[in-house]
Amino acid sequence: MSKLWGGRFTKETNKLVEEFTASISFDQKLAKEDIAGSLAHVQMLGECGIIPTEDADKIKDGLLAIKKMVDANEVEFLVEDEDIHMNIEKLLIEKIGPVGGKLHTGRSRNDQVATDMHLYLRTKTTELIKLIEDVQQALIGQAKEHIHTLIPGYTHLQRAQPVSFAHHLMAYFWMFERDKERLIDSLKRVNWLPLGSGALAGTTFPINRERVAEILGFETIYPNSMDAVSDRDFIMEFLSIGSIIMTHISRFSEELVIWSSQEFQFVELDDSFCTGSSIMPQKKNPDVPELLRGKTGRTYGNLIGLLTVLKGLPLAYNKDLQEDKEGMFDTVETLEGSLKLLAPMIETMTVNKDVMRKAINNDFSNATDIADYLVRKGLPFRDAHEVIGKIVLYAIQSNKFLLDLSFEEYQGFSPLFEDDIYEVLAPEHVVAVRNSFGGTAPEQVEYQIKLAEGKLQR
Ligand code: ARG
Repeated sequence: MSKLWGGRFTKETNKLVEEFTASISFDQKLAKEDIAGSLAHVQMLGECGIIPTEDADKIKDGLLAIKKMVDANEVEFLVEDEDIHMNIEKLLIEKIGPVGGKLHTGRSRNDQVATDMHLYLRTKTTELIKLIEDVQQALIGQAKEHIHTLIPGYTHLQRAQPVSFAHHLMAYFWMFERDKERLIDSLKRVNWLPLGSGALAGTTFPINRERVAEILGFETIYPNSMDAVSDRDFIMEFLSIGSIIMTHISRFSEELVIWSSQEFQFVELDDSFCTGSSIMPQKKNPDVPELLRGKTGRTYGNLIGLLTVLKGLPLAYNKDLQEDKEGMFDTVETLEGSLKLLAPMIETMTVNKDVMRKAINNDFSNATDIADYLVRKGLPFRDAHEVIGKIVLYAIQSNKFLLDLSFEEYQGFSPLFEDDIYEVLAPEHVVAVRNSFGGTAPEQVEYQIKLAEGKLQR
C-alpha cells in the first residue's frame, strides 16, 4: 500500500526526505496513547451516527488487536509510514480492510498527536509523583534516625551554625514537596483535550467532544481549535518542572559527593551505589550522585530546546512541532532513572555521626550564641558582635576553640560573662535553643517530620 496521503502526488518521496521527516523511531513510544485516543474517537463517531455502528465496532476490534500486537512487541513500525499515527492506521486498514479508513473521519493528525502527548504526560506525571514520594519517604527515614545527630551548617561553604542532620535532610523533603505540588498542579492543564479540533479549524462533522473527553478522562476541552493543535505549553511546563526537580536532585547529589569525600567523610555511600577505578585500586567513586548532577544538564537543554522551537512559530501546526517529543521522552526517562536511584541511595547511606561531631567540636559555629548571650545581658548586638570577633581572633591565635577558653579569659573581654557561658556554648544547646518554628531544635524537627508525614498520606 502506498502513502495514506499519496493521492495528490505524482512522484515517490525521496528516501532521504522520508527518513528526515519520519518520527516513528521515537514516537512509537506513543503507540498505546494513540490507540486509546482512536478508540475513544471511533466510539464517538459511531454513537453520533457519523459512521455506522458496525463499522465503528470493526474498527474498535481492529485497534484492540493491534494493541495486543504492540503490547507483545510484534509490530514492525515502518519509516515509510512516517509516524505512529499513520503506522497504526495503515496496520488497521491492512487488518480490517478499507473500512479502517473511516477512523480518520473528523480528525487530523494535528489534534491526534496533541492528544497523544497529553495522555502520555498524564500517565508519566502521575508515575513521577509516586517516585518523588519514594525519595521523600527515604529522606524521612534517615531524618528520623538523625534528629539528634549534629552536622555543621554552612553558609558560603564555611561553617556557620551547627544543625540537626535531620533538619538538613528535611530541607530537601520540602523542595521535593513543592516539586510534587507543581506536578499535581500541571495535571490541570495536561487534562485539556485537543481532539476534535481537526487540522486547525474544527470539523464539518457533528462530533461530540464532551463524549471523547469523558471516555478519555479529560477535565477540560480546548475551546479554541488553533490553540489546541499548535501550543505545547503543557510540555514546556513539564520540562520546566522537570528541570527544577533535577536542580534539587543535583544540589543534593553535590552534597553527597562532598560529604563522602576523604576530606569530609560525613557519610559513606553504600558499596552497591559506588564504582571503582580501573587504575587506582583504593578508589570508591560516588558515580551515581555525580551522574545525577551531570544529567541535570540535559533536562535544561530539553527545556531550552522546546522553548526555542515554539518561540517563532506562526499558528497553527507546523512540522517543527514534531521536535517536541524527543526532549520530552528524554526528560521523563532522566527523571524516572534519577528518582529511582535516589531513594535507595539515601536509604542505604551510612552517616558518620562521630566525624560530624568532631567537626562541630573543632569550629567556631557557636560564636553567634555568645553574641546572643551578651545581648541578653544588655549589650547592643553590634557591640556584642565586635567583642566576640575579638574573642574568636584571640582563640585562633592561641590555637583554642571557644569552649577551651578559661572563665578568666572570657572576663578579660567583658565583665558581663558569667560561668553559665559554657552551657550556652555546648553544641546541643546551640541547636536546642533554635526553637522557632522551622528552626533546627529537635522539638521543631520532630514537628516538621510529623507535618511531612502528613503530606505523604494523601
Ligand atoms: N508526526 C507528526 C508530529 O509529531 C504528527 C502530526 C503531523 N501532522 C502533519 N500535518 N504533518 O507532529
